[in-house]
Amino acid sequence: APAQIGVTGLAVMGRNLARNLARNGFRVAVHNRSKGRTDALVEEFGHEGEFVPADDLPALVQALEQPRKIIIMVKAGEPTDAVIDELVPLLDQGDIVVDAGNAHFADTRRRENALKEKGLHFVGSGVSGGEEGALNGPSIMPGGSPESYAALEPMLTKISAHVNGEPCCVHVGPDGAGHFVKMLHNGIEYADMQLIAESYDLLRHVLGLSAAETADVFRDWNSGDLESFLIEITAEVLSQVDESTGQPFVDVVLDQAEQKGTGRWTVQVALDLGIPVSGMAEAVFGRSLSGDVVRREAAAGVLPGPADTKADVDRAAFIEDVRHALYASKLVAYAQGFDAIRAASEQYGWDIDLGAMAKIWRGGCIIRAVFLDRIKEAYDRDPNLPSLLVDDYFKEAVANGQEAWRRVVATAASVGVPAPGFSAALSYYDGLRAERLPAALIQGLRDLFGAHTYRRVDRDGAFHLDWSGDRKEHSA
Ligand code: 6PG
Repeated sequence: APAQIGVTGLAVMGRNLARNLARNGFRVAVHNRSKGRTDALVEEFGHEGEFVPADDLPALVQALEQPRKIIIMVKAGEPTDAVIDELVPLLDQGDIVVDAGNAHFADTRRRENALKEKGLHFVGSGVSGGEEGALNGPSIMPGGSPESYAALEPMLTKISAHVNGEPCCVHVGPDGAGHFVKMLHNGIEYADMQLIAESYDLLRHVLGLSAAETADVFRDWNSGDLESFLIEITAEVLSQVDESTGQPFVDVVLDQAEQKGTGRWTVQVALDLGIPVSGMAEAVFGRSLSGDVVRREAAAGVLPGPADTKADVDRAAFIEDVRHALYASKLVAYAQGFDAIRAASEQYGWDIDLGAMAKIWRGGCIIRAVFLDRIKEAYDRDPNLPSLLVDDYFKEAVANGQEAWRRVVATAASVGVPAPGFSAALSYYDGLRAERLPAALIQGLRDLFGAHTYRRVDRDGAFHLDWSGDRKEHSA
């Protein structure tokens, strides 16, 4: 019998996705550019379900029932284009090509347009959850046409993660919407990790906790509001001991965070949309700074810090303060992330249901967290919520923790421990709630040096002051 779906690109993500499909009873045609991977998959995991090995793309296409559904799982960028270019001439009208890699949504839009002209469907789909998720149930964020989603839905919802019996997969919206949301997921992932890292750093420096003790703190936090995959694995990483030295694992790892680029894309796109995503931006900058060996070496031990690097704090109280700071800052990062999704949805006409995004992130993906239920509920209460921060539940949560949050930022500054995520989040919060911002002064400066005009609080219209002449106001 023909295969129901094909997967090309059998590195670990593609292989695990193919296995997930087969384990769920779907007949999967599998292909990889070098045949060894295809053979290895069938040999090792053939017993898990029905695999149809294909030696080349024509054979993959031949093996599939129509309309064909083919998942591409290769590196983003040129490798993806190369596979698409080779595949397209082999396909027939109505066939569906799914890109499940971490593509930039602008590439996805371009590819979908190109394939549409040929009568083909192109679905850019986010897939999150790493290797483990791909195998046992990822969070799936498909874009593309509603028709193509209808054809894919039974398979995708079956192989996705489930929370309370509900699949972590929903049609995000047309064209690049799926990959946009996946990109945002990664931006939030960056922010989350930065905030976790700052919390850890403060616990070690301010309280002098050992790595193992910080692990206990995170383990403890994982049973409250912060319960999430990232907090759980933080405890795991922090309690790991290096085999060769007997040191905490975290102390033998080079402190230079790498990045494949999705976090950077998120910030770049948000800049264009005009949405402040300071949580993600500080996370990307933090990684860049960590990797800037030349300047770090020039400055470390050379630039003076505060005279007093000890803070007079109570251990239990400070741990609780940091927990509040982490939660509040995380909330700001999510609020900013959802703002960016809303803005893009408006700009591109995607009509994305924000609550549904929180819902499909509850399981399977890297940022899966109990907290996402609260976000879903907030958007259920008000789908047009201007900011997550003004939702009653979150407003309360921040109000309860804000004194602690301020103490943590102040302590970090006074002892000289960098906390860019915490402080940027707090500044955003204070900026958002300000009745008046010093932006008025900026407008005045712009008008003085460039006649850029300003608006008034008491009258409509644009105005300009004759700064170099009689200083009279004129309508502009
Ligand atoms: C996921 C992850 C996945 C990848 C990250 C890592 O959702 O499963 O986000 O996509 O592991 O993109 O990104 P960096 O290498 O940039 O940290």
